[in-house]
Amino acid sequence: MIDWHSHILPGLDDGARDIDESLAIGRLLSAAGFRTVHCTPHRLRGMYEIPASTVREACAELQAVFDCEGVALHLLPGMEYCLDEFFQDDFADPLPLGNSRWVLVETPSQPDLDLLKENVFFLRRTGYIPLLAHPERLAFLAPPPAGNFFQDAVDFLRRSKDTPDAFSQTPLADLMQMGCLLQGNLGSIGGYYGGAVQRQSERFRRHDLYAVIGSDAHHPEALGRFLQPAIDLLRKESSKLCTLSVDDCPGSG
Ligand SMILES: [Fe+2]
Repeated sequence: MIDWHSHILPGLDDGARDIDESLAIGRLLSAAGFRTVHCTPHRLRGMYEIPASTVREACAELQAVFDCEGVALHLLPGMEYCLDEFFQDDFADPLPLGNSRWVLVETPSQPDLDLLKENVFFLRRTGYIPLLAHPERLAFLAPPPAGNFFQDAVDFLRRSKDTPDAFSQTPLADLMQMGCLLQGNLGSIGGYYGGAVQRQSERFRRHDLYAVIGSDAHHPEALGRFLQPAIDLLRKESSKLCTLSVDDCPGSG
């Protein structure tokens, strides 16, 4: 399996604090069946202004430690870019995922839909494929169905509420039409962010909206709580998300 989103590099952002945490995250991912991990620290103006060269160096250094410690993971450098008003400047020295044209992106905490579309268009125009992180957590892009807790639970169990075009009138559909791909978070699938996000991620899978999955791992304690339940659930669903290779992801290798 390939992890398309992680904060495993030590000391660069709000992810792994030191090499011990990086090793603990690496061992958990390896034990769960991952073989390739994209290392994607935040790139966020005023908070995490990490140059691409620093990420590449940190990735090579961590790879050397993993090789030495027998953690069988192939690490690839990347970045999680915030699609805010500074994005196009920050992307002047681009760091896509591995050797690909895919670029991991997240939305700002105060999202502006027009700006989001402008930045997605900018990426497409310059030959890149935006991979939007954890869209199931972004209610402004695709609101979950209205309903009370009990109705949601019944619908979840019956899997009966959505029509095939349930997402067609949402801003998320506009972004997808522009060529934006979607990355599901294992924490959402495993229930780490609560029942509402978990149900939304189940809807995304039912409608086959995810191109790939990612751990979005920050610290080993949290990862240890949701990783295996999420993988077990995907395997139970016989999800293609567990068996994808780079060859299945056009433009990603
Ligand atoms: Fe992240």
